[in-house]
Amino acid sequence: MDKEKARKRIAELSKSIEQHNYNYYTLAQPAIPDYDFDMLMEELIALEKQFPGLTMPNSPSQRVGGDITKNFETVAHQYPMLSLSNSYSRNEIADFINRTQKAVSEKLEFVCELKYDGVAISLNYKSGELDRAVTRGDGTKGDDVTANVKTIRSIPLKLQGNYPDYFEIRGEIYYPKSSFEKLNRTREQHGLQLFANPRNAAAGTLKLQDSAEVAKRKLDCWLYYLMMDEKEQRFETHYESLQHAKNWGFRIPNNIALCQNVDEIFEFINDWESARHELPFDIDGIVIKVNSFAQQRQLGFTAKSPRWAIAYKYKAEEVQTRLLSVDFQVGRTGAVTPVANLEPVLLAGTTVKRASLHNADFIEQLGLYQHDLVTVEKGGEIIPKITAIDLTARHADSKAIQFLAHCPECETPLVRQDGEAAWYCPNSEGCPPQIKGKIEHFISRKAMNIESLGEGKIALLFDQGLIKNAADLYDMSFDQLFGLEKIIETPDEENPGNTISRKVSFREKTSQNILDSLEKSKTVPFHRVLFALGIRYVGETVAKKLADAFLSIDRIQRATYEELVAVDEIGDRIASSLQSYFNDEQHMHLIARLKTKGLQFEQAAKKNAEQGVLNGKTIVISGVFSRSRDEMKQLIEDFGGKNSGSLSAKTDYLLAGENMGPAKKDKAIKLGINIISEAEFLQLINQ
Ligand code: IVH
Repeated sequence: MDKEKARKRIAELSKSIEQHNYNYYTLAQPAIPDYDFDMLMEELIALEKQFPGLTMPNSPSQRVGGDITKNFETVAHQYPMLSLSNSYSRNEIADFINRTQKAVSEKLEFVCELKYDGVAISLNYKSGELDRAVTRGDGTKGDDVTANVKTIRSIPLKLQGNYPDYFEIRGEIYYPKSSFEKLNRTREQHGLQLFANPRNAAAGTLKLQDSAEVAKRKLDCWLYYLMMDEKEQRFETHYESLQHAKNWGFRIPNNIALCQNVDEIFEFINDWESARHELPFDIDGIVIKVNSFAQQRQLGFTAKSPRWAIAYKYKAEEVQTRLLSVDFQVGRTGAVTPVANLEPVLLAGTTVKRASLHNADFIEQLGLYQHDLVTVEKGGEIIPKITAIDLTARHADSKAIQFLAHCPECETPLVRQDGEAAWYCPNSEGCPPQIKGKIEHFISRKAMNIESLGEGKIALLFDQGLIKNAADLYDMSFDQLFGLEKIIETPDEENPGNTISRKVSFREKTSQNILDSLEKSKTVPFHRVLFALGIRYVGETVAKKLADAFLSIDRIQRATYEELVAVDEIGDRIASSLQSYFNDEQHMHLIARLKTKGLQFEQAAKKNAEQGVLNGKTIVISGVFSRSRDEMKQLIEDFGGKNSGSLSAKTDYLLAGENMGPAKKDKAIKLGINIISEAEFLQLINQ
């Protein structure tokens, strides 16, 4: 195809893809099967790859992401992004109506909308194309998150119809509830910190540096306010402007009502008070806006918020229930966390049976007694919290809940360091949950990645006296493992006080897998071994920094406090934790044993990625290799390349291992991507 034909076809494809995006994501009325859509997208990507000069910044191919933003540029808002004043009662809404009505001569009309609980965004459109997406920031300037926002399919990159040449539209980016739960489940499996609520997940996702990662998450957006210069203004009312914005391609609120008085407004508020739990996203109230733009201008703004709008906030739902008992759980680090077991009660659509009590101070401040009647509240958080105690319902002979003085698992007296909220069991090498927790961490995917072993099997091996620390894993033989089985009782999260029984057994294949995987782990790079040791405050990133700075465990151990804190991101807390770890003879003994087993406790000096032969290259890996995937990824990074999860027009190489799926290969061929084998890759980096 010649360039002119390609230009025409790219324009056709872009238009048609954006129309299908709009049908699917904004109208929820897909017009073609997913497969046909994918084919159109693939054709577009292939053409753009063949004619790179024809790729436009707002091509639908940008939806898959790929741009990396290290630092988000700060941009000033043309119109400040204000907040809304809040109200909680009918009286306050009636006051708002009287106040506004007094300030204008004609009769007021109001628009009621849902108050979406997400992250505010300002979208700027120029000549019908998305120009910039900026977060609220401090209200006068925010962060330019355009690359990430382009991945949200319901946000149009190009508009249709008769739109103004320049305007801004504001709305809320949110994380749908069901996708949020999936996201947290996956994060849990990968040992990552969970997001407390969908709002935090939306905010965190919007600030990710890799837009390809954002594209994989399921952000969505409602747009609720159209702004343009007064002389450009062509609409009389807010309601009318939204209907037009819808025709240009925006996803505007579909739960919206025109109201004439406080009764009508309250009908809307009351309807949504309970119905909000059925919505696939979170709302935290209702927004009431004066409909006429002329009246809005007359009313104006205070320093913080418009006088023409107000938010009605729903109270966090709460319910009373009895405290049954308090459990004290000992974690991998020895921290003891109190958890309240409650009489099961229905709250905001789910049954609540437990609530976190955080730490000893929290229990004391709350003044919690046995069997107290407590108020449980569910705000945006997943875990409900106890907010109050009904003292009138307290039994006369009830006693205050005491924090434990001794570890519930090993009886060791608990200790608390100055300035810390948590009590710890200091018996790190002899307390069962700490031992098991440390081994679970050691074998986890991001640490030594030992396959076929998990919580249940670790518990069984521990009970059998086969393992007391990580080094013992490497002494296990096939004969010791094969045939081991036991019914394990684990606490039932759903029914406090009950347990679930499950059978844990070491079959032939499992036993061999575990031993093979342990053998393979001897090549796991040093920084992951360091992370696997489970030194307090040494997470994945810190372990990598330490490994790169000191290159061996011996050097880290010998480093002075000053040398440690001289490393980027290592502060007092981490340096002290490292020193106390290495001061413990048992730890030094463990490291010595792991060394004799052949684990990596040093690494070569890092090659200069700047001179890497893969500098600026994006590589997708697929299939099975002689080295682990993580090793392959590490090699790519060491030589300056970037590993990406999915093929796109921006991919430079597809690194193909054994058993690579045919679909991926076909796609790479279509996109004109270089396919290289493991041997060719190694040749490339050895050049
Ligand atoms: S209108 C000048 N409409 O609530 C204010 N805001 O607490 C224009 N919000 O910053 C905002 N849903 O992020 C408006 N339907 C809606 C909204 C909404 C959620 C957010 C918005 C605002 C915050 C104020």
